[in-house]
Amino acid sequence: APVQTPSPNACGPADVPSNAPGLNCCPPRATSIVDFVLPPAPTTLRVRQPAHLVDAQFREKFNRAITLMKALPASDPRSFTQQANVHCAYCNGGYAQVGFPNMDLQVHNSWLFYPFHRWYLYFFERILGSLINDPTFALPFWNWDTQAGMRMPAIYTDPNSPLFDRIRDRGHQPPKLLDLNYDGDDTNDLPEQSTIAANLSVMYRQMVTNSRTARLFLGAPYRAGNFPNPGGGSVENIPHGTVHVWTGDRTQPNFENMGNFYSAARDPLFYAHHANIDRMWSVWKTLGGNRQDFTDPDWLNASFIFYDENAQAVRVRIRDSLDTARLGYNYQTVDLPWVNARP
Ligand code: C2O
Repeated sequence: APVQTPSPNACGPADVPSNAPGLNCCPPRATSIVDFVLPPAPTTLRVRQPAHLVDAQFREKFNRAITLMKALPASDPRSFTQQANVHCAYCNGGYAQVGFPNMDLQVHNSWLFYPFHRWYLYFFERILGSLINDPTFALPFWNWDTQAGMRMPAIYTDPNSPLFDRIRDRGHQPPKLLDLNYDGDDTNDLPEQSTIAANLSVMYRQMVTNSRTARLFLGAPYRAGNFPNPGGGSVENIPHGTVHVWTGDRTQPNFENMGNFYSAARDPLFYAHHANIDRMWSVWKTLGGNRQDFTDPDWLNASFIFYDENAQAVRVRIRDSLDTARLGYNYQTVDLPWVNARP
């Protein structure tokens, strides 16, 4: 049977690191939960662009939307605080699986990883769009798989911007080059050209060599009553995990914000990182061979609950997330320099 998320009202204390005490990650109470209904295929799509390529007009609009979201009271499930806490509640044991009160629900390290985060960004993007009254608004993606995107995107690094987060690694501000194989140590860095080449081979290895099947890319099956963390897919581990740790501040006790589940989504850059992860899911399906989604009903029918742009709790199923165009968005087409970077 599929894993099911309980009502937000069943959320309980999360297991956050002992040096981050007193944090309540649970969302406001829901008065009702509705089932998501996939709307008819939209005719125009919201187009997610690379964060390093957006223009001044987009930047202004995005800043305005995030500012409005941050200004909502924490009691509003659409507020930035609550949106960040979604990650904590779903990843640090805030929920038990329906029917298995002693079994933590975990959305990482299994086949739930890609669909959970797709839905998470879907609602985050719709909330931002509704706050600025712009249904075309689309999140930018951190295009770290191409040379020009291998830095913290500039729109996020201006200390006066609402996209800035103070709790990031100071040594990794631009123009520092991102290391997709980051091991927590900067003293063994290679020269820039070698790092770029190494990053492209990481992409080839993780997307092509190590991702020949749904199991290898999307992660291991995780069904109702199973223990959490059966195993993540190739890209979930590297570079998804390495980019989190590279961005987080290594002088914080738990690599906050980006380097720890409970705090990661407090950094606006989290959503750009995950937009690229989400894009990788779409790209993966175009790479041929056996790279196709699972057809297992326990995957297709697994469900999560999010608040939408009207602060309504909505139950979504993985089956409705497989095609981004049906959800009303896609990704700007950009080069995939790693596709031919076979080492
Ligand atoms: Cu929910 Cu990037 O992790």
